[in-house]
Amino acid sequence: MEQYAIKGGNPLVGEVEIAGAKNAALPIFAAAAMTEETVYIDNVPDVRDIDVMLDAMRGIGVMVKKADRHRIVMNAGNIHNLTVEDDRCKKIRGSYYLLGAFLGRYKSAEVVLPGGCDIGSRGIDQHLKGFRALGAEVIIEHGLIKARAAQLRGSHIYMDKVSVGATINVMMAATLAEGMTIIENCAKEPHVVDVANFLNSCGANIKGAGTDVIRIRGVARLHGTEYGIIPDQIEAGTYMFAAAVTRGDVLVKNVIPKHLESVTAKLLEIGCEVEEADDCIRVVAARPPMHTQVRTLPYPGFPTDMQPQITVALALAKGTSIVTESIFENRFKYVDELARMGADIKVEGGDTAIIDGVGKYTGASVTAPDLRGGAALVIAALAAEGFSTVDDIKYIERGYEDFHLKLQSLGAQIELVETDKDFQKFKLKVS
Ligand code: EPZ
Repeated sequence: MEQYAIKGGNPLVGEVEIAGAKNAALPIFAAAAMTEETVYIDNVPDVRDIDVMLDAMRGIGVMVKKADRHRIVMNAGNIHNLTVEDDRCKKIRGSYYLLGAFLGRYKSAEVVLPGGCDIGSRGIDQHLKGFRALGAEVIIEHGLIKARAAQLRGSHIYMDKVSVGATINVMMAATLAEGMTIIENCAKEPHVVDVANFLNSCGANIKGAGTDVIRIRGVARLHGTEYGIIPDQIEAGTYMFAAAVTRGDVLVKNVIPKHLESVTAKLLEIGCEVEEADDCIRVVAARPPMHTQVRTLPYPGFPTDMQPQITVALALAKGTSIVTESIFENRFKYVDELARMGADIKVEGGDTAIIDGVGKYTGASVTAPDLRGGAALVIAALAAEGFSTVDDIKYIERGYEDFHLKLQSLGAQIELVETDKDFQKFKLKVS
């Protein structure tokens, strides 16, 4: 099985180019299936979750062509099946966006209950509440979510919980409903705005994305478009924290600095220097990190998807830090693995990590429990004394394009190995 072999201790130095946002691309693919005309999508990240979603779409008759590594051409003029039950779709969250898309276009959709990273129970009640408010009948049967409507009518919907997925899904269905839909207490993440911008470029009439209230005037049909996906702010934030943890100096290119404000604020708080330009951010970490408090919150708060990465930095800070996870109930699974490298962290009540900083990490064999936890363990290993291996990297490959290659280009000693023999060879090579 593939794993990363890492020799820690090198500060990361250099430039890294950020790919398009996975969590924007997934719903944008679903939205692209709302028109029978051809859609061209650029800045698509080349990561596993994207392949799974595109395969599922091919399976129901969508023409999907990779024009180049980051450009997808899609035509959904010949969809022959509104039931999406590809087994692999159970493993990705983004597959449920086909519900909102097909409910809007065909007034009917059946999609397998979604999976995604195991970071706590991940409800879908707000999606269903929104579809029902638009006039759909929704049931869950034989592992499928089935939604059907004679007609979709605009409605006034209050989301009881701020949810990225529910906001996007209901926004998509409402795009092709009759009349006006108002969604309140919306998620404001950059990818919500990106999906709205994509739909508007196809002829939708969506206003207010990025605020608490989104207003959607339904249109009869959507047309083709050409669209570029926003940069992935979580990938960017991960490299920014990698610089902090390894005491490096990294220029993170192709980003929207505004999307990274909460990440930048925390890096400044823990003592890094951060310089922003139009589309890049440089992080310089000349000293060990300082302790602080963090609470994950919906955007513009500190992202839950950056929680493991900041914890890895704080576990090296002098003094006690507290990290509170307020979005997902089980997102500290990586902490036990980090303890193998010497971290001193107690998780209380499932949502609060009390971190007593240690001076250094020491290399160990660890297992990635999920996407962001896995990336954070790699960063820790890059700062650790000696050798580490990180297993189950399939999770990391779900969301990071060329992770080890980009890290290598920043001077990291990291390689993909398959066998113990490969690991020994790596050790000899870098010793
Ligand atoms: C998206 O998940 C992302 N996934 C996650 O990215 C990210 O962590 C999360 O948003 C928060 O930013 C994708 O975009 C594919 P939510 P999503 O609906 O949409 C509860 C990553 O590492 N909730 O905003 O599933 C839910 O249980 C990942 O890239 C309900 O109770 O997140 C959670 O506690 C992992 N009922 C909270 O809301 C609902 O109907 C936020 O979930 C919907 C959600």
